[in-house]
Amino acid sequence: MTDYHTVGQVADILNLSVDTIRRWEKKGLIKANRDTNNNRIFSVDEVRRVQAKYQGTSESRGFYVLKSPPTDYRVLELFAGAGGMALGFANAGLKTVLLNEIDKHASETLRRNRPDWHVIESSVADLDFTQYRGQVDIVSGGFPCQAFSYAGHSRGFEDTRGTLFFEFARCVQEVRPRIALGENVRGLLRHDKGRTLSTMVRVLEDMGYRVQYKVLRAQFHDVPQKRERLIIIGVRDDMPIYFPKERDYFLSLREVLEDVPESKGAEYPKRKREIMAHVPAGGYWRDLPEDLAKEYMKKSYYLGGGKTGMARRLSWDEPSLTLTCSPAQKQTERCHPSETRPLTVREYARIQTFPDEWEFAGSVPNQYKQIGNAVPVNLAYHVGRSLVAMLDGADSSEFVTQDEDTQPEQLQLF
Ligand SMILES: C[S@@+](CC[C@H](N)C(=O)[O-])C[C@H]1O[C@@H](n2cnc3c(N)ncnc32)[C@H](O)[C@@H]1O
Repeated sequence: MTDYHTVGQVADILNLSVDTIRRWEKKGLIKANRDTNNNRIFSVDEVRRVQAKYQGTSESRGFYVLKSPPTDYRVLELFAGAGGMALGFANAGLKTVLLNEIDKHASETLRRNRPDWHVIESSVADLDFTQYRGQVDIVSGGFPCQAFSYAGHSRGFEDTRGTLFFEFARCVQEVRPRIALGENVRGLLRHDKGRTLSTMVRVLEDMGYRVQYKVLRAQFHDVPQKRERLIIIGVRDDMPIYFPKERDYFLSLREVLEDVPESKGAEYPKRKREIMAHVPAGGYWRDLPEDLAKEYMKKSYYLGGGKTGMARRLSWDEPSLTLTCSPAQKQTERCHPSETRPLTVREYARIQTFPDEWEFAGSVPNQYKQIGNAVPVNLAYHVGRSLVAMLDGADSSEFVTQDEDTQPEQLQLF
């Protein structure tokens, strides 16, 4: 049984300062829960684990990709990319009946790794899904987010025409799966003051689906990376809607990179390497000597804001920061913790929990892009397990509903 206490009590028990515990929470390394009186409480075990990581006394969990036995539930996936979500779902036991992806390199990645998967390389707009009606349990898709027009403010299906969400919704309408699952960035919550998401929810509701959504934090789902993803789940019948429960541990970079296979990777230009060499693990541009900081930051040096992503070096004892489509972007630098270079392709892949055997097609920049675009495989696995539990009619003990768990801010639907 986990022991929960107030921040002050946990600080006393573990001989830590209250500030340290608060800082860890702010960094997304631990989470506050609520007791029945709505007070914020912390798990002593969870905080102890972080303490042990920093003290170098914790046992490594190593790198792993989660897997469960197969089920008979069938999934059709749109916008499949390099297969992060598809592989996580397959690992959760779901059968992949069709994947659609427009990009030739990403499609090649899917075909190369899973020759038995039915990959259609085309624009989703060119496909008719009616032959799959009644044939699949889940339609899923990480549709790229685009703004809608609000003609007449009806905020319905027609308002989304011409967008990729429209194509996702059209597929759901043609297939009528028991579950429709959309995935997107957290920013969708606030996009166009929340109107974009509320339109999407309305469209699914108009098609007869009951909808809930939740922001999931990958670092609490067996992924060594702070990455947030919005998961939208619609169900057609009265099955409960489950989301995966956050774990009370995280994986540090040290744990998952200690035996990473060698691979290709980007390099810094000479001067950038010389400058980045001055940044300690976990540090950023403020850790540079002033003259180098000015040289590196140029005009940004004099502008306000923390810019904590600039000249950033990752920390061995924490999860990675969110990976982007390229490993060395000026605003979102993620330098290797102890070597002065960007992360390699295989390091990128491990941080997204792709197995070492998963090959990526295309040029090195293209491989980074496919990996950076993906849903982390282990996060998708946990989402997939919740979908299996929903379809099985299993009880909720291992899962949470929309309102349980540490809930990020909610959008007010209108
Ligand atoms: C965010 S990525 C999806 C990543 C994927 N869910 C994963 O976990 O690896 C979005 C994908 O949508 C694809 N895409 C964009 N427009 C498309 C279209 N019209 N038809 C099909 N796929 C499209 C992009 O090529 C990209 O791979």
